[in-house]
Amino acid sequence: MSQNNDFSTRAIHAGQEFDPTTGSIIPPVYLTSTFVQDGIGGFRGGYEYARGGNPTRSSLETLLASLEGGAHGYSFASGLAAEDTLLRALLSPGDHIIMGNDVYGGTHRLANRVFVPWGVGLSTVDMSDLDAVRAGIRPETKILWIETPSNPLMKISDVAALAEIGHAAGVIVVVDNTFASPYLQQPLSLGADVVVHSTTKYLGGHSDVLGGAIILNSEELAEKVGFLQFAVGAVSGPLDAWLTVRGIKTLAVRMDRHSANAQSLAERLVGHLALEAVYYPGLESHPGHAVAARQMKSFGGMISVALKGGPSAARKFAESTEIFQLAESLGGVESLIGYPSEMTHASVKGTALEVPENVVRLSVGIEGVDDLVADVLQALERL
Ligand SMILES: Cc1ncc(COP(=O)(O)O)c(C=O)c1O
Repeated sequence: MSQNNDFSTRAIHAGQEFDPTTGSIIPPVYLTSTFVQDGIGGFRGGYEYARGGNPTRSSLETLLASLEGGAHGYSFASGLAAEDTLLRALLSPGDHIIMGNDVYGGTHRLANRVFVPWGVGLSTVDMSDLDAVRAGIRPETKILWIETPSNPLMKISDVAALAEIGHAAGVIVVVDNTFASPYLQQPLSLGADVVVHSTTKYLGGHSDVLGGAIILNSEELAEKVGFLQFAVGAVSGPLDAWLTVRGIKTLAVRMDRHSANAQSLAERLVGHLALEAVYYPGLESHPGHAVAARQMKSFGGMISVALKGGPSAARKFAESTEIFQLAESLGGVESLIGYPSEMTHASVKGTALEVPENVVRLSVGIEGVDDLVADVLQALERL
């Protein structure tokens, strides 16, 4: 499948050749741990043992690389497994990471509680403030870790500008592209060095599988990541890889609908008497709107709101919707509602990333938008 083909075409066909032995249009799930050899070292198709490679995982990895426009794709058992492998590949004790001050709580926990005790320095900064990023770079800084839109406050970082700043200082620029998905934003084309994903979210798209990914261009880094993927073994299993591929086929149409639904809902919520703020980059009033409009195709399906009534109102709101289900995670076809300070971001309480207790996060699904708006409005009325 040529990279010149449209995104939607690649989402359905890249890495997805039909099975030559039976004609099955869908490549089979290779539920196998090992591969018979034609004499010692005689590998059919290069496969030896499934931690090192499995055809179903390869088809997902080819697809991910194609969609992000990268030379190499790697698939993992979860987003955090991917992040852990990447950080091991890039860091040594004494190195330093600069991380956005509004990232997924688990990402910060991984850096702060696993890599900092190993001797890595960590600082957090508002990535939308380019001067603060420049000022935060030290001689030992190795990574700028960007999440845009960020989780959960929907901050927007200018990937091209940050890539320029990072590269001028010899720093590797990593973007967690989970909230946008490659359909809405392709960080490698904006100058980033590495993209990571929790494929659990929009890529999988159906809340039925965990997964993570790394996509990059550098041959040198690819060698390290490939080695660690094999040596550490946090790989995705074949059934998980197959489900993720199936989800990705509809990514383009799902993201269009997620974005349209979220835009309508956000516009209806602006000015609501129960709300102090609506955080959605598709709103012209959002401070990152112009940058988001430049680097994203549309603005995605995530909205956060801050309640005027404080933590008790936020909790009650999160427990009062009927279509939006109260649950961790995001990016599935069904709408979810979450209370970050005690759910996704409970682990960052007491750090610079602590989420205000009046904030509620909405993952806007692809149900009928009128039903979604009515559900949120009735929950706000109950306060
Ligand atoms: C932006 C972001 N990155 C990474 C992760 C971690 O992914 P996983 O839960 O698949 O390990 C999450 C999970 O919520 C996330 O929201």
